[in-house]
Amino acid sequence: MASPSAMWIQWGLRLSLVAAVIAVVLRIQQNPLVDLESGDSAVEETYCYQGVRTAALDPEEGVNCFGVKSGKFTRVFRESDDEGHAHTVRPGYVLPGIWDGHGHLLGYGEFLHSADLFGSATFDEIRERVVRYLERDGNEEAGGRDNWARGIGWDQMALGAMPTADMLELDPRLAGRFIMLDRVDVHCTWVSQAILDLLPAGLPDIPGGEIIRNPGMGVFCDNAMDYITALWPKPDAARKKTFLRSAMRELHKVGLVGMHDAGVFPEDIKLYNELSKGGDWWTLRVYAMMECAERNTFCPEDAARIEHKDGLLVVRSVKLFADGALGSWGSAMIEPYSDKPSTSGSLLVNASTLTTLTRQWASLGLQVNIHAIGDLANRYAIDAISAALADRCPDFVPDRLKECQDSHRFRIEHSQIIHPTDQQRIQNLGIIPSIQPTHATSDMAYAERRLGSERTATEAYRMRTFVDMGLPLVLGSDFPVEPPNPWEGLYAAVARKSPRTGGSKGERGWYEEESLGIWQALEGFTGGAARGGFMEGKAGRIGADRWADWIVLDEALDGLQTEELGRVKVRETWVGGQRVYQRRDDDDDDDDDDDDEAVEIEERREEL
Ligand SMILES: *[C@@H]1O[C@H](CO)[C@@H](O)[C@H](O)[C@H]1NC(C)=O
Ligand SMILES: [Zn+2]
Repeated sequence: MASPSAMWIQWGLRLSLVAAVIAVVLRIQQNPLVDLESGDSAVEETYCYQGVRTAALDPEEGVNCFGVKSGKFTRVFRESDDEGHAHTVRPGYVLPGIWDGHGHLLGYGEFLHSADLFGSATFDEIRERVVRYLERDGNEEAGGRDNWARGIGWDQMALGAMPTADMLELDPRLAGRFIMLDRVDVHCTWVSQAILDLLPAGLPDIPGGEIIRNPGMGVFCDNAMDYITALWPKPDAARKKTFLRSAMRELHKVGLVGMHDAGVFPEDIKLYNELSKGGDWWTLRVYAMMECAERNTFCPEDAARIEHKDGLLVVRSVKLFADGALGSWGSAMIEPYSDKPSTSGSLLVNASTLTTLTRQWASLGLQVNIHAIGDLANRYAIDAISAALADRCPDFVPDRLKECQDSHRFRIEHSQIIHPTDQQRIQNLGIIPSIQPTHATSDMAYAERRLGSERTATEAYRMRTFVDMGLPLVLGSDFPVEPPNPWEGLYAAVARKSPRTGGSKGERGWYEEESLGIWQALEGFTGGAARGGFMEGKAGRIGADRWADWIVLDEALDGLQTEELGRVKVRETWVGGQRVYQRRDDDDDDDDDDDDEAVEIEERREEL
């Protein structure tokens, strides 16, 4: 007979068990996307291409056609096996639709409507870019008290000095305006004097955050950013809808059919829930991790469980944050930084609070995904997850906690620098590493300085190590921190070189022994992401009864050289049997311009 605890496992995250504890939102809707191309989605349509790869790993061999009905695949087959039926073979090679396992949808949409400061090398350039942004159509009101001008992408490493509020006053077109500019990693924000003037005098320091006071006021990092965001007149629902639409359009262009949204506030979860049911424009699958209005707290009244039947929105997880970013020495390390021995970074919450929060959230049956960059943060994240697993499966001996993890799927977001002992613990527990391959190639310029050679070689930016351990990687980009283009991520994973320049710190890729094979890497962006979001039966693979999501490329991935991988241009993107993106010839020209600009930027970064 099953013991009560075994039943917990058996029924996993069953709704009825959590219903009594939390406010549950269950939205089931029958609203298949209308197939714009065929008109009637209830009739099976067949699609044949030059080639169809049904999955990154273990694909069905030799097939080149599939059927689609009501937004799902019905079957896959070989054209020559479908006797008595003539099929048109469409040009191109098909892969399963790609997922970004860690991004920020609203943040990316806002970025598309903000001053783009990525790659700025001087303060003059920053001021000029903000001015140009203010001059753009539709931004006439930006910079006022109720409509702050926003930007993202500055980096004090590239600028050679920490920004101050004064620096924005130097241009008469910016003086007196309300301006808030996020650092490249979104862990610090830089504000103008008008915003500083809203704050009380003698602002106290705050645990887990830093107010930069030298060479002057203006920059607030990590928890200290709360001072600013509390004052910020946030975008209203209509503006957010604009952000989301713009973001989805751009994401489809690079082949993304879905994404894991790594931290969505309760009010935005509600907005997503309304918008995703409401319009035919919501064409991206979103797996949203809920983040309490106050970071790193327990807010069960806001806990939501949403599972739209058409798969456009799923919510069953929460996001916690253990530490900050490596670029600003904010990641919590076991030993001090090699280039700043006075500090070993800082935790955003102490270990006992992190464990308590993880256990509390897990007790509601939710997946817990912990942001951890430094090796101390990762250690505490593993401690927290172990404790939660022991709660959830008390009858399990330690050796079998991995089975418990199979049904709970706790994740560590970034999993960037991990002590070898803790890498072993991750393997033993089967914790899911959620990794962004372009972080490795963006950070390689300074990672070794921060960490020293020993830690870099044995702890940092593991990918192959985890795959060889049999762990199911989730791969993503962390957009808007990095571009959302998964082809850049795939290139970075396979080559361990910068997707912008093809460069690395040497001839070979950067710590090339951690590189993945192309299919292993694609698995992280398809099957791995699906599993990390409890969607392995629905997403990440082309097969009967799965969501009809696919992309079309000009060439088979097998035939590409590694160096071509980062420049792949998607031909078409399909979600739920509906074509959501089709490349036009002039798109290529636009993209080439972007690439030219991007190359300049990256070269400057690498000079650092
Ligand atoms: C951890 O942080 C919490 C909340 O700030 C505090 O109450 C608690 O005393 C801290 N625990 C330790 C061991 O420092
Ligand atoms: Zn993130």
